[in-house]
Amino acid sequence: MKTLRECVKEAKENKVAVGHFNISNLEALWGIFRAAQSLNLPVIIGASEGERDYIGVPQVTALVKSIREQYNYPIFLNADHTYSFERVKEAIDAGFDSVIFDGAKLSFEENVKITKQCVEYARSVNPDILVEAELGFIGTSSKVLDAIPDGVLLDESSLTDPVKAKEFVEQTGVDMLAPAIGNFHGMLRGGIDPKLNIERTKAISEAVGIPLVLHGGSGNSEDDFKQAIANGVSIVHINTEIRVAFKQGLMLGLNENPDEVAPYKYLKTSIKAVQDVVEKKLRFFNNI
Ligand code: G3H
Ligand code: ZN
Repeated sequence: MKTLRECVKEAKENKVAVGHFNISNLEALWGIFRAAQSLNLPVIIGASEGERDYIGVPQVTALVKSIREQYNYPIFLNADHTYSFERVKEAIDAGFDSVIFDGAKLSFEENVKITKQCVEYARSVNPDILVEAELGFIGTSSKVLDAIPDGVLLDESSLTDPVKAKEFVEQTGVDMLAPAIGNFHGMLRGGIDPKLNIERTKAISEAVGIPLVLHGGSGNSEDDFKQAIANGVSIVHINTEIRVAFKQGLMLGLNENPDEVAPYKYLKTSIKAVQDVVEKKLRFFNNI
């Protein structure tokens, strides 16, 4: 079976993207896996610090590994948005396939220092583990928003600078970079976020030469994804739209079966709702 490193490399060469979808429960994991399996595409499961604390760090690792082994399927686990070296180490030691050190709020120097420490530790454990870093602030919460999050600025001078990005990648040896390119975490109520800056995406990609990761994919359009992927993005993260779908599926399941008390019955609609969203996104990411 291909490693995650190979899947991402292949995606970059083919100008498609690997989908990264967050979970905080088993239902979402099944919905995501079924969607990927129906299209025969590799997929990354994301678990942020909060999400993996809810499931359990060893438990989420075991769940994803069990699906990979049972189905002989390229499904991978990423330690999404991790804010300290200690928690990156914990995820690597638990067996995650990739980690993100999120030092977007730190000074450039501090971000370089801790990212470098994470890269060195990952390499010492298993050179196949991918390390991603963040440069540029894009907000922190996957939720439905009434306004662009505080601290996120979309004017050109606030986006990630390609020269700084190149310097950052050279100094840290990181495998993938998450830049600020007009994206932000969460989705505006109504479901349509401002357009991404494709020129900047291209400039950063050319400067750094490593795969770019688009965070905050909820609310972006099919055209945004296609252009970003054609210009250097090799992984796209979606979370808010999955959370919304899960909740709508749950409400539907409860409304349709008001007397049902078996979770495995009234949660079927949640699994299906997550599956549908993920399948739609994967089609966009792979020009299907
Ligand atoms: O790391 C998670 C993603 O960047 C999710 O962003 O909630 O806007 O889809 P989103
Ligand atoms: Zn993110």
